Amino acid sequence: MAIFFEQANEIMTMQGSGARTREAMRELSIVRDASLLIDGETILAIGTKDELMRTHAELIASAHIIDARGKVLMPGLIDCHTHLVHGGTREHEFQMRLEGKTYMDIMNAGGGIHATTAMTQQASFDELYDKAMHHLNTFLLHGVTTVEAKSGYGLNWETEQKQLRVAKKLHDTHAIDVVSTFMGAHAVPKQYKGNEDAFVDIILDMLPKVAEQQLAEFNDVFCEHGVFTPEQSRRILLEGKKYGLIPKIHADEIEPYDGAELAAEVGAISAEHLLVASDQGIDDLARASTIAVLLPGTAFFLQAPFARGRLMIDRGVAVAISTDFNPGSSPTISLPFIMNLACVNMGMTMEEVLVATTVNAAHAINRGDTLGTLEVGKQADVLLLNVANYKQLQYYYGMNHTHTVVKRGKIVVK
Ligand code: NIG
Ligand code: FE
Repeated sequence: MAIFFEQANEIMTMQGSGARTREAMRELSIVRDASLLIDGETILAIGTKDELMRTHAELIASAHIIDARGKVLMPGLIDCHTHLVHGGTREHEFQMRLEGKTYMDIMNAGGGIHATTAMTQQASFDELYDKAMHHLNTFLLHGVTTVEAKSGYGLNWETEQKQLRVAKKLHDTHAIDVVSTFMGAHAVPKQYKGNEDAFVDIILDMLPKVAEQQLAEFNDVFCEHGVFTPEQSRRILLEGKKYGLIPKIHADEIEPYDGAELAAEVGAISAEHLLVASDQGIDDLARASTIAVLLPGTAFFLQAPFARGRLMIDRGVAVAISTDFNPGSSPTISLPFIMNLACVNMGMTMEEVLVATTVNAAHAINRGDTLGTLEVGKQADVLLLNVANYKQLQYYYGMNHTHTVVKRGKIVVK
């Protein structure tokens, strides 16, 4: 059945092509007092109610009508960096950090990523699937219609594969599109401490299997002091490219480590975190058109300095924003709250955070052609917000303003 959103206060169409930089990150291409018509899985028309009644009277007569008066319509939000599929929780580590321990202290003592790895290895396929399904339902309630999901809590082929297969099944069964990233290089298992290159070789062996079995589109590495060096990260990312896996990189998250520079050098589609990226690294990202995926929830929750989002945009980097949803450094699913953090703590404008969670997020996962804008012919992923104008989405912070969500032309939240 066709869907007719009738007379929204504002429709943020975000129209245009390519990832947005500088001033283009502030262009929302808003049409006011406008209606939107969906037929099948795609957007058929946007315009005033009178115009659409003239051109599509018959279809509208049989359509499902949604009263959008007093509300705002925008593209479904895209969360382009998550660790969706994992076993267990780590609330006790949050308590340890509040009492003075650091994130890396906890990880080096066998907690952190290692603790979640043990719980993920022990969990059955169905347990992981049910838990991630529950998280996806919460994402949808917050207006998120596409989620990137990384593996990396397996650190052996059996469990990495299990995580990626869970993500694939979720993509097939859940309304949300799940886009997969292989992240075998998320931590070095204890038994390889001091012999890290041997573990790198094991990851290199997994790459052709990931590609052959079409388990992921992207290949990500945690390039960090005490985890993977820039040299090891380069090897893993370049080897993945040979099999068609597109590089992503967790770069300069805790200590500066030339991660942004490496992302630009290997032609990564995105460099993620970048809390302590260098000036040189930021310029390199702009030159290489590598998207900076910033994750202010992680800085907030780890009580760390925020990434320099304002400077990155001013230097010409295309910025995207995401939750980094994971059980250690950012256990939240509320992308709207993360958008508020980006405004308050990274100096981004309300318009920039909207571009960063739609158009630029779509480009960070290679979906810019089909997702991220409301344009005729694009996939109908639409979010109706219970606010009178787009600025209220950030102003009334820490609340869920979702009214209705449409995914691929179907009403999935109302
Ligand atoms: O993106 N930095 C590495 N990985 C995650 C945290 C994973 C965890 O603590 O479980 C991140 O912050
Ligand atoms: Fe992450």
